[in-house]
Amino acid sequence: MAAKIALAGVGNLASVFLQGLKFYSGDERRGLWHPNVAGLRPGDIQVVAAFDVDSRKVGLELSKAAFAPPNVARRYLALPRGKVVVDAGISKGDAAPHLSGMRLEKAGIDDVTRRLEESGAEMLVNLISSGSGASSEEYARSALKAGCGFVNCTPSLVLRNNRLAADFAKAKLPLVGDDLMSQFGGTIFHKGLLGLMVKRGVKVSKSYQLDVGGGSETLNTIDEGIKLAKRAVKTTAVASEVPYKFETIAGTTDFVDYMGNDRTSYFWFEGSTFMNTGISVDIYLKSSDGANGGNVLFDVLRATHRCMKVGRLGTVGEICAYGFKSPPKPMRFDEAYAKFAALYVR
Ligand SMILES: NC(=O)c1ccc[n+]([C@@H]2O[C@H](COP(=O)([O-])OP(=O)(O)OC[C@H]3O[C@@H](n4cnc5c(N)ncnc54)[C@H](O)[C@@H]3O)[C@@H](O)[C@H]2O)c1
Repeated sequence: MAAKIALAGVGNLASVFLQGLKFYSGDERRGLWHPNVAGLRPGDIQVVAAFDVDSRKVGLELSKAAFAPPNVARRYLALPRGKVVVDAGISKGDAAPHLSGMRLEKAGIDDVTRRLEESGAEMLVNLISSGSGASSEEYARSALKAGCGFVNCTPSLVLRNNRLAADFAKAKLPLVGDDLMSQFGGTIFHKGLLGLMVKRGVKVSKSYQLDVGGGSETLNTIDEGIKLAKRAVKTTAVASEVPYKFETIAGTTDFVDYMGNDRTSYFWFEGSTFMNTGISVDIYLKSSDGANGGNVLFDVLRATHRCMKVGRLGTVGEICAYGFKSPPKPMRFDEAYAKFAALYVR
């Protein structure tokens, strides 16, 4: 049984995700976290439609759009030519800073809904730029109209829109998000080290996480408004790992174009131990954004598909807590992982 999905946003994460679908279409297991989730293999995920607003991508067949500028995602393999052509998407006047001055190809909600219906998509995966909250919500409405589940990988807080959440619940469709949590990115690394300090009785007093990267998503994030919104999501996610208040900051601080889709996260932790003796950690993590999103996206999509098929919407909260930085009900990572694995990992 294939899980048929549509992509909103054919950027760097979409590019590596599509390459991952090809890489893991057979028996390849290297780098794959969970070969079987909810009875599905990665090769059971099928992309049946795609939307973007950048005129450099709209109208291109997906395997071409995946490598079209300004994408800088690593080219791991050549993508086979397929049948999906990128359609014009929704823009509610909130286009990302990196698209300013570009010609945008826009469609209305009815066009996108019709396309979703024609394609047979079961879920719409939101991979558009951060800072485009109104457009993200309009994609969610379009998914709802087309009878699709909606998976919001962006930091726009779609699940906090109570009306949308209620409409999805009424339609018995999954609404999953917000803000994908990378497999081994800055947020989970930060949470992991804080969790270890807490478990070892260290009284944490301060920490920070300063991310520097390339790619258009990082370029957008140096816009002051987007930076503060994303920082709030990441900081809240990190703080939830410690059962008391302490000072912490987590977020993107700069854009370096030649880093491409790579990122370096700089961390500093301060705490105290026996007889109030100080302890501190200075450390950095180098990662590649697209690849870092792949495994979690594979897992989330397969589990969400299962929820839809067996009408088990009551477990959507566990998927959100496992795969996203801003779930409706935050959990410590080990608890979220244990619950997700018990339900979905075979
Ligand atoms: N590991 C990860 O890559 C990761 C982790 C967490 C969250 N995210 C989120 O996933 C999203 C995608 O990340 P990315 O690195 O691929 O970004 P990107 O900037 O490379 O790609 C975004 C794509 O969306 C398109 N777009 C912008 N507005 C659109 C609209 N209204 N309709 C359709 N398409 C639109 C852009 O043209 C571009 O192709 C971002 O919101 C990011 O914050 C990514």
